[in-house]
Amino acid sequence: LNNGLARTPQMGWNSWNFFACNINEKVIKETADALISTGLADLGYIYVNIDDCWHSLLRNLKGELKPDPKTFPSGIKAVADYIHSKGLKLGIYSDAGIFTCQVRPGSLYHENDDAELFASWGVDYLKYDNCFNLGIKPEERYPPMRDALNSTGHSIFYSICEWGVDDPALWAGSVGNSWRTTDDISDTWVSMTTIADLNDKWASYAGPGGWNDPDMLEVGNGGMTYQEYRAHFSIWALMKAPLLIGCDVRNMTAETFEILSNEEVIAVNQDPLGVQGRKVSVAENEGCSQVWAGPLSGNQLVVALWNRCSQSVTVTAKWGVLGLDESTSVSVRDLWKHENLAENVAGSFGARLDSHDCKMYIFTPATYSSVM
Ligand code: DGJ
Repeated sequence: LNNGLARTPQMGWNSWNFFACNINEKVIKETADALISTGLADLGYIYVNIDDCWHSLLRNLKGELKPDPKTFPSGIKAVADYIHSKGLKLGIYSDAGIFTCQVRPGSLYHENDDAELFASWGVDYLKYDNCFNLGIKPEERYPPMRDALNSTGHSIFYSICEWGVDDPALWAGSVGNSWRTTDDISDTWVSMTTIADLNDKWASYAGPGGWNDPDMLEVGNGGMTYQEYRAHFSIWALMKAPLLIGCDVRNMTAETFEILSNEEVIAVNQDPLGVQGRKVSVAENEGCSQVWAGPLSGNQLVVALWNRCSQSVTVTAKWGVLGLDESTSVSVRDLWKHENLAENVAGSFGARLDSHDCKMYIFTPATYSSVM
């Protein structure tokens, strides 16, 4: 969507994956504080996004959405003011149906009023869900909110949460700043890998202004190993996915923080070229050895070697699948070790990987070659 936003994928935090409906203004404010004190905000995680369940079960007598008085007694504007005072941005959630998924009032047929209300509160971001949609096509339900947000005159990021049902990549580019390509993620290896593969299909539709959204990060929620979370973060970054943290940032382990704060991996995600990397090769060993790669600005490449199986394997990237001439010599930087590994590598580059691990590199070709 050409509204000046999302020139690179959005970064921030969202309440759903960890807190679900157990949210309140204290949690949201403490999360903002933690994003600042940990340094994550400085690394680009600036959106603090409240998901479902912030509302009362009914609109007020004027027909306005209203925050739950028990959990958000100060109201959303006060929360927005607090978030803004920290230099962060506030996201809120509604639904392109008559109810949200947790059966709070939805915004279908209330688009203008609700957009005006969100803007009056100082909201910077809207995640717009797909429950209770009366069977109306999303191509009809999502544009009215785009137009309503636009008419407020405020700059509001528009995140389409249509779960990939009606192939949003095909129509959402002119409607929203990102669109979900899949069903909800859960905190498991199977869910994460399935979603990565599904999202890959739509790579060519992503770019500055509008991104494929394979759902929020589960890093730090406990259901995957360190290697699996590192793979999750690496592949999301490479796919130019939104980097929306989904754990409790007030209580992160050192490992979780190390993953989420990897500046070199974040820089891949935020690279100004804005091309979604893809799965470029799968070896015949039952798909264990995968290479994912994509072009970056400055004639560089990001290359991820990913072991999708439970035994250790060697994964090798051949120049052919990267679009490099056989003779091109490349220098290789490891983004998890933060080391320059080798110069003048030609033909192929491989590494031994533990179960489910993923290594990520920047390749800098010595001579210009048309990269991917
Ligand atoms: C479905 C969405 O896909 C989730 O991300 C979350 O927003 C829930 N709805 C909330 O009910």
